[in-house]
Amino acid sequence: MNWIERPSAPLKAVILVGGEGTRLRPLTYWTPKPMVPVLNRPFLEHTIAYLKNYRVNNIILALSYRPEVIQNYFGDGNNWGVQLTYAVEDNPLGTAGAVKNAERYLDNTFVALNGDIFTEIDIADMLAFHRGKKAKVTIALTWVDNPCAFGIVETDSEGKVKRFVEKPSPSRVTTNWINAGIYLLEPEVLKYVPTNTHYMFEKGLFPLLLELGEPVYGYPFSGYWLDMGTPEQYLHLNCDLLLSKAKSTLVNSLSKDDVCCDKDVIIHPSAEIVGPAVIGSKCRIEQKAYIKGPVVIGPDCHIGDSTSLEVAVLWEGVKIGAGVSLKQCIIGTNTKIEASDQVINGVVTPAHTKVAQIKNTYSW
Ligand code: GTP
Repeated sequence: MNWIERPSAPLKAVILVGGEGTRLRPLTYWTPKPMVPVLNRPFLEHTIAYLKNYRVNNIILALSYRPEVIQNYFGDGNNWGVQLTYAVEDNPLGTAGAVKNAERYLDNTFVALNGDIFTEIDIADMLAFHRGKKAKVTIALTWVDNPCAFGIVETDSEGKVKRFVEKPSPSRVTTNWINAGIYLLEPEVLKYVPTNTHYMFEKGLFPLLLELGEPVYGYPFSGYWLDMGTPEQYLHLNCDLLLSKAKSTLVNSLSKDDVCCDKDVIIHPSAEIVGPAVIGSKCRIEQKAYIKGPVVIGPDCHIGDSTSLEVAVLWEGVKIGAGVSLKQCIIGTNTKIEASDQVINGVVTPAHTKVAQIKNTYSW
């Protein structure tokens, strides 16, 4: 990994953590999307650790949805070795509007990123590209098989952006390179963003900059990238991290058979656990339980006798009765699953039983 080059001014980051996380419901009724646990740590902690690894220590969180949950948890960022500043919106201002709302903290080139993206992009290399092109905006581009649910970005042979097409129908797909939600921006472009108005990068600022002939570039990269905003993708991310297909600066990589237990975990000698698995503190796993990774079990969970668990993420305080079978599922905080129940490809929360939402089975 490259460090961000010196002696130029240190790069600041703005993380957009505003959406209600409608695609992750019902899990996000109680937990704002940036706080959903990934390997038992809030998602946003992984992003902060990733930025810190690039010496991006000055991070502005642009918040609009339940900001107090995030502010109470992270405070000034000191415990994470970073300096956090909050730019809170009274009403959601959209992606560009949220950054405009943080303009007073931005005096140099900065990185802005969607708060639901997990990536291993090399920001230092992207910054070198941005500077080499003398770009006003550089948009990270990632290649996907089916770009119809995303915004495609057409570039010329030099990487200069020619056109944006948001969520194209199959007949309008001209490239598989999509906007990855990670941008390098010069602060001067914010003069085109209206104050206190809902305004988006994708539909507002970027097309306007093209019309004005400003240098907007696309930076294609091939490293890990995932938008964790749906149950499938969220489960996928946890499994990829467990299987070391993705790496988080926050956690040591696991090998295939690793079973990582936090403190005060009690496992009955007759229970069988096949890794990779992460088990939170104070969990109790009863006799003849069978756990086959990739599996994440949050703190204070109880796994009943002869229960079988395969490809699953359990949040905190989940109680699973005896003889239950869980496969390809996510179980929300404090959910109780009755004895002998079966949950396959589902999301379950205390108020929403068996919401079958996981359409694509995770395979590896
Ligand atoms: P759903 O998950 O479907 O609710 O959408 P979302 O709004 O969370 O995601 P979307 O892809 O529309 O937004 C991309 C990123 O920008 C996400 O990280 C959002 O949290 C963030 N975002 C979207 N709108 C706002 C906003 O009004 N204010 C702030 N601060 N961030 C926003």
